[in-house]
Amino acid sequence: MGLVYEKLIRPALFRLDPEEAHNLAVKGLSLLSRSHILCRLMARDNQVNAIQPIELFGLRFPNRVGIAAGMDKNAQFWRAVGALGFGHIEIGTVTHQAQDGQPKPRMFRYPQETALINRMGFNNQGAARIAEKLKADSRQANRPIVLGINIGKSKLIPLRDAAQDYLGSFHLLVDYADYFVINVSSPNTPQLRMLQAVEPLCELLKALQTANHKRAEKLGTSPVPLLVKIAPDLNFHQVDEILSIAQDAQLSGIVVANTTVERPESLLNGERTGGLSGHPLFSKNLNLVRYIYRATRGRLPIIGVGGIEDALSAGTMIDAGASLVQVYTALVYKGPFLGKTLALALAAR
Ligand code: FNR
Repeated sequence: MGLVYEKLIRPALFRLDPEEAHNLAVKGLSLLSRSHILCRLMARDNQVNAIQPIELFGLRFPNRVGIAAGMDKNAQFWRAVGALGFGHIEIGTVTHQAQDGQPKPRMFRYPQETALINRMGFNNQGAARIAEKLKADSRQANRPIVLGINIGKSKLIPLRDAAQDYLGSFHLLVDYADYFVINVSSPNTPQLRMLQAVEPLCELLKALQTANHKRAEKLGTSPVPLLVKIAPDLNFHQVDEILSIAQDAQLSGIVVANTTVERPESLLNGERTGGLSGHPLFSKNLNLVRYIYRATRGRLPIIGVGGIEDALSAGTMIDAGASLVQVYTALVYKGPFLGKTLALALAAR
């Protein structure tokens, strides 16, 4: 299947503008996700539930491989990802307010480096609309994969009101999330990364965790696992501070990491504004995963993401301490069945 994608589908998609190609892929996957029978048959064929299940923060992940945030921003195709062989997906980033994102063009390919630069800016339909969709979906029986929801700050909300804004999304979406990721690391929302500083991060995580625990107490359930997604451009001192806050806030894990604003010298036209993803990000994010695993003595589950593109890079990320891995950019270059390939390869090690 990978060869069919690389020889036939990718050349056709790469003739289109990157965002148009993305929208077309999302349309195709949304169509697939509407056919429950086909999805179920394909998931069974992929043995998605039997590849290598792993228990993590109270959830059972069918395998270790997921789709990273940003691919299914509006919960359009998440039900099809089991059919492709993935064990989980993180939808979003969802913001409380619907927003258009940055002006186009805002996604750029770097085929020689197997990389992308994007400055999408959290274009999404907003938490209320996305919650409606998830509500309709949730009537359709159990789901074979784990659904994470990644939430971020609405662009028009000032930084000092960030906690209220995230809380708005949390309350609208909490009934549908297997886990939440608090995104404070996208480079494309002005000042968002400042939420990684000690004071604002403490305030934000405390507000969300308090609401989470209150809800759980009221319903007599467990709190929903909360994770934080960090930038790869932090220094180790900043990372240490975040780890200490994560522990105090009883976070369930950490997603390592988002796109980078740094550029390798080799990247031609790399001066475009935005976050760099794909192959050039791998060693940076890998080092960060390794550092965090050692610093926490493996006590804080890590989702490793950034430049994972084959069995070797996925395995290396797991060896560095990640419990799960996610991919985005490699799907653009290698096609949607990469999930199954990686999950099988990891299980066979
Ligand atoms: C992203 N990423 C991202 N992350 C996030 O937390 N919220 C988001 O909305 C987005 N949006 C987004 C759009 C596009 C076009 C790309 C390429 C990436 C970052 C993504 O989840 C991941 O952390 C990085 O891309 C690194 O992984 P890959 O792409 O190298 O596998």
